[in-house]
Amino acid sequence: MPKPIELTAAPLKIAFQKLSAEPSGVVVALAGPDLAFGDATARFLAPIEPAIARAAAAERFKAKAGSGFEMLAPLITDLDRLVVVGLGDGKEPVDWVKLGGQIRGRVPDAAEQVVVLLDAASGAPDAEAAADLALGMRLRSYVFETYKTKKKDDDTPSRLSKVTIAVADESAAKKAWKLKEGLAEGVETARTLVNEPPNVLTPKEFAKRAQELEELGVEVEVLDDKALKKLGFGALLAVGQGSEQESRVVVMRWNGAKNKDAQPIAFVGKGVVFDTGGISIKPGAGMEDMKGDMAGAACVVGLMHALASRKAKANVIGAIGCVENMPDGKAYRPGDILTSLSGQTIEVINTDAEGRLVLADVLWYVQDRFKPKFMVNLATLTGAILVALGVDNAGLFSNDDELSENIFKAGKATGEPVWRMPMGPEYDKLIDSKFADMKQTGGRHGGSITAAQFLKRHVNGTPWAHLDIAGTGMGSPSSDINRSWGSGWGVRLLDRVVRDSYEG
Ligand code: BES
Ligand code: MN
Ligand code: ZN
Repeated sequence: MPKPIELTAAPLKIAFQKLSAEPSGVVVALAGPDLAFGDATARFLAPIEPAIARAAAAERFKAKAGSGFEMLAPLITDLDRLVVVGLGDGKEPVDWVKLGGQIRGRVPDAAEQVVVLLDAASGAPDAEAAADLALGMRLRSYVFETYKTKKKDDDTPSRLSKVTIAVADESAAKKAWKLKEGLAEGVETARTLVNEPPNVLTPKEFAKRAQELEELGVEVEVLDDKALKKLGFGALLAVGQGSEQESRVVVMRWNGAKNKDAQPIAFVGKGVVFDTGGISIKPGAGMEDMKGDMAGAACVVGLMHALASRKAKANVIGAIGCVENMPDGKAYRPGDILTSLSGQTIEVINTDAEGRLVLADVLWYVQDRFKPKFMVNLATLTGAILVALGVDNAGLFSNDDELSENIFKAGKATGEPVWRMPMGPEYDKLIDSKFADMKQTGGRHGGSITAAQFLKRHVNGTPWAHLDIAGTGMGSPSSDINRSWGSGWGVRLLDRVVRDSYEG
């Protein structure tokens, strides 16, 4: 029997050393325009300076952010490979997370020792830059290979397991990274949940994974079918009733504020572990992607992980509705009239518009029980948002300008941008129903907007924002900091919203 191969890659390990220490192995040097290096870097590279200048000219290197070239076995003791990476022209501030991802992309997988010299002509960047660089390198390194049992060929180099960042102040960098490592873990958690197959990640298993947050001091409460029925989650349960799998609602609580009784903020996620469309069944092509229809819930779990890891000074509720949307003899059908937790009745039009039913009950429950300052929900809610915005912006719908502005700004800062979409009574009237308090859908035109109007009818006036992440949460193109199908989108964004606007 051949030995089984360890394929599940552990997260990239990050170490720090002093800039003054002699680096070895693969060394990454950062350069500004005219090949300007920081002092420590320049000193180290001095013996091969003419060769670097010649290589840079041959490569037409202009120090554009993330651009680069490399030299093999340059004549410095213990230097296997030199990778020079551009810092940009200095007019724009450096995006260290992105640069970290770009650097990781330029380092060979087979490298055993990698040292990044975090140094610049304008002076060595600070600890926050070091932590952001580490974050970018680590996120770019994430792979999901849990279910592969064979390597493609035996020559595949083993995966880079560790990098060292050389910094001016080692202990400050370590401290900054310690605060940021939980954010990396949170994004990884969200990605893994999205990547997991639907036969493994059932609503019950999802709840179990959320319960792992208890190790970080998060209180986790799981409501099962019976409890949900008793409470009156009539809309959510209708979606799950055609599945062999029971539904679950998970409530997570992080009480990090000085005043443990202070009004919390709340995050709500759509957790449809698989969306067949139900009786209004989807076409077969691409249906496998609907395992990712729980990306909103995955983000909420990842966010709670990140907040608890850095002991965020805020009281935060995370709530997710986990169901499987399947067609069988017990499945809900178009024409059914449901009574939601709010007491409002809903005429079902299309069983494939299931996400809004799940969210309606969880949103109502959260505002009713916790009276939060605001609620933000995330959901892979509509294909229409992909038509409107593509895969580079999430749709933002809100009844509150200040909250919208805070999310918009955090989107710019983190590179997880959102674009605000309109709402209003003219759209709301499209979901009035002949037979019930409201229709579940409003037709093809403005499909993402009428979905948001439907949610708004279940927030009871609470300041609220809805992020439609159907385009950004899964299957989006690879980026500098992500090569995985599940992107973990929203964890960094909302961690930033909390940090910048609601802590302290
Ligand atoms: N989960 C889908 C939306 C979706 C589509 C997510 C593509 C990710 C990629 C959602 O439940 C859905 O099926 N929405 C319908 C709504 C319609 C029936 C009103 C849609 O967008 O077609
Ligand atoms: Mn659907
Ligand atoms: Zn769905």
